[in-house]
Amino acid sequence: MKRKSIGTRHEMIVQPTFIIGTFQEDGSPDFAPITWVSKTCERDSDHQNLIIISMYGTKQTKQNVQRTGQLCINLATREMLHLVDYFGQTSGKDGKKDAIPYTWEKAVCVEAPTLTQSPWVCECEVAQSVTTGESDTFFCRVRNVQVDERIDADAWGLDLTELDPVIYSGKYHSIGECLGEIGDYYKVQEKSAD
Ligand SMILES: Cc1cc2nc3c(=O)[nH]c(=O)nc-3n(C[C@H](O)[C@H](O)[C@H](O)COP(=O)(O)O)c2cc1C
Repeated sequence: MKRKSIGTRHEMIVQPTFIIGTFQEDGSPDFAPITWVSKTCERDSDHQNLIIISMYGTKQTKQNVQRTGQLCINLATREMLHLVDYFGQTSGKDGKKDAIPYTWEKAVCVEAPTLTQSPWVCECEVAQSVTTGESDTFFCRVRNVQVDERIDADAWGLDLTELDPVIYSGKYHSIGECLGEIGDYYKVQEKSAD
């Protein structure tokens, strides 16, 4: 294969689209799509994972997270694209985002709003934050995860085709098939005990 250089464009670092729910000072909800979301692990022994969320500028969601330390990460599905577009092009700084209909509920374990339509919601509390230029990156502890009751979530590894997430690369995408799991394509020989 012969490749060409295209500068520093990095849109191939694709992300699922999440809509972050936070409470404003007056107790009303604010929602905004945020796709700079990843994770790290503090300690594997007690499953201490941290969700990493990065936000640019002075958006309302960032101010709410800095004030309360509480947020909900709502997975955006194909059916929620109108909400992604609406929440992403409006700011809670300009008033309530209520120009289109949607319903929300309070989270179970944190003080933050969830979108009723989202089939996967992660309730988080900020453990640490780092400022780099005009961005702030929040390392968050997971307090609770909610999933659509119809989804089989007994074993580790969700079938993403059932959740139908929107993947964002500068354009919106859906995903195709489930291709299997680790070990389906190369089996490591089990080492015999010493
Ligand atoms: C698909 C999509 C993804 C986005 N991802 C991010 C992101 O990862 N980080 C960020 O700071 N802003 C991101 N934004 C921009 C915010 O959603 C936007 O600034 C929004 O208006 C903020 O609303 P708020 O002021 O109510 O928080 C994204 C917008 C869209 C449409």
